[in-house]
Amino acid sequence: MSTLSTMDSIWMRKSCRDFTGESVDGGKLSMVATAGAYAAYSGQIQLTVVTNTDCIKAIDDAVKKVLLASKNKLLMEKAAQDDFSPSYHAPALIVISAPDSEDPTAVNLNYANAGCAAQNIMLAAMYFDLASCCIATLDLAFHHTDLNILCDIPDGFSPILTVAIGKEDNTSPHDVRQVKNINFRR
Ligand SMILES: Cc1cc2nc3c(=O)[nH]c(=O)nc-3n(C[C@H](O)[C@H](O)[C@H](O)COP(=O)(O)O)c2cc1C
Repeated sequence: MSTLSTMDSIWMRKSCRDFTGESVDGGKLSMVATAGAYAAYSGQIQLTVVTNTDCIKAIDDAVKKVLLASKNKLLMEKAAQDDFSPSYHAPALIVISAPDSEDPTAVNLNYANAGCAAQNIMLAAMYFDLASCCIATLDLAFHHTDLNILCDIPDGFSPILTVAIGKEDNTSPHDVRQVKNINFRR
């Protein structure tokens, strides 16, 4: 377990795109998901912890299919690679879903809720020495296929953001970020 302070976790968090493939302890994963459920929210979200390898492969395959049909040359080339895995071969995915809605305000809140949950999840993962990556691309799979049932996404909900969780060999901290997007009006 990490002894990092909250601020150290914030400075050091980085996206992992090179998971070792080693599985994650179920108890830790459950705590990490629970941290997501403890996030600030306005409305409703559902967190689905997917460790079933067939489900993760089905998600990857569905995304690949969408990208191959995208007519975007860059995306098509990427998706055509043999080892292409939009989930980066992570052993666990925490899929964040929200209720389907036509109301733009509710939709905005859904995305905001998902962002808050995802950040809690990523910081909690660090506590357990786990790496993470917030991935929007995986949602392409659910919009185009019947994966919701396979992955146990509740009826009336759609995945809007996923956090991949796993182990990483590279434990170097995040590069120092040149922060230029803060302004103060005093
Ligand atoms: C809402 C959201 C969606 C993202 N979607 C993807 C994605 O589909 N694929 C990916 O590799 N990274 C994705 N990322 C990760 C970003 O690329 C990453 O956070 C950014 O490059 C900054 O790097 P860092 O997380 O290491 O600080 C996403 C991040 C956010 C917040």
